[in-house]
Amino acid sequence: MKFSRIIGTGGYLPEKVLTNRELESMIDTTEQWIMSRTGISERRIAADDEFTVDLAEHAARQAIDAAAINPREIDLIVLATTTADQVFPSTACLLQHRLGLEGCPAFDVQAVCAGFIFALGVADNFVRSGASRCALVVGAETFSRIIDWSDRRTCVLFGDGAGAVVLTADSQPGVLSTHLHSDGKYKDLLCVPVGISRNFSKVQAGAAYTTMQGGEVFRWAVTAMSDLIDEALTANRLHKEQLDWLIPHQANIRIIEAVGKRAGIPKHKVVVTVQQHGNTSAASVPLALDQAVRDGRVTAGQYVLLEGFGGGFTWGSALLKM
Ligand code: ACO
Repeated sequence: MKFSRIIGTGGYLPEKVLTNRELESMIDTTEQWIMSRTGISERRIAADDEFTVDLAEHAARQAIDAAAINPREIDLIVLATTTADQVFPSTACLLQHRLGLEGCPAFDVQAVCAGFIFALGVADNFVRSGASRCALVVGAETFSRIIDWSDRRTCVLFGDGAGAVVLTADSQPGVLSTHLHSDGKYKDLLCVPVGISRNFSKVQAGAAYTTMQGGEVFRWAVTAMSDLIDEALTANRLHKEQLDWLIPHQANIRIIEAVGKRAGIPKHKVVVTVQQHGNTSAASVPLALDQAVRDGRVTAGQYVLLEGFGGGFTWGSALLKM
């Protein structure tokens, strides 16, 4: 039996910090409102000449270093993003070129804030099937580019960043399971309602912005992410007490706390990084994983559950034995 195993993680946040205090001078809000309703104290914003591939490259190189592999061993690149550099080629292809790799399949996955989990699920299946021996999986976003910075209901929530992992084939798990879900009937609750094929003039005018029905999204995120925990534990015949860490999508501290409470996972087992970077969409889960690995919380042999939830809706989990 062949499994995939994470052997290196990486993360990157752009240098520019945007604090709640700075947002007070841009929109009608207060530092205290943002902190109490979201748990976010600052977010990072990519420089004007910094693009999703730049963030992805930093995170990918760090993950490759941590994995201590020759980059030439990589035979698959799956990159999750909502904010591709170009219409085409894919950001995965741009990253492949940056890394000096050629020939292996490289493609993007679009599942918004659940994107990294979807990318990991795809890569895990490539490795299990024998189609890949060493995969680079990245979540990278310049989400600030699809935010209306005059809309206080959305702009306080999001930021830019990238996270990455290297997956290799192993006889021991590794990735114990992935569960991926989508339901397009919720397409209007959280979206950018314009694109290349539809209302392109708005894209050209720089008005391709995220819209959201916050309360509805909140409720769905809590339900879906707590159900994902039951689904993964049941599928692997594990009890919640055996779970060492829950690493949920970092959207809002209140969503994270509500998920932990509903699923009965104590706070000290939940990794929270949202205060430092806000919601970085597809980058949020690998950034939180990377931080917890680097600060020594996540260690070999532990059970770690990653989970994401995003526009679509899309939601999914990956249960890991580190
Ligand atoms: N500053 C001050 N006041 C604000 C702000 C702000 N930044 N944003 C909204 N308000 C106001 C509203 O206008 C409203 O005022 P009104 O009653 O006069 O109309 C009031 O605050 C209360 O608004 P609510 O929407 O009820 O506030 P709520 O407590 O629900 O918090 C929030 C809003 C933070 C958006 C919440 O609904 C939420 O977190 N939703 C989930 C959204 C999310 O995380 N999306 C990310 C993408 S999806 C995902 O990744 C899971």
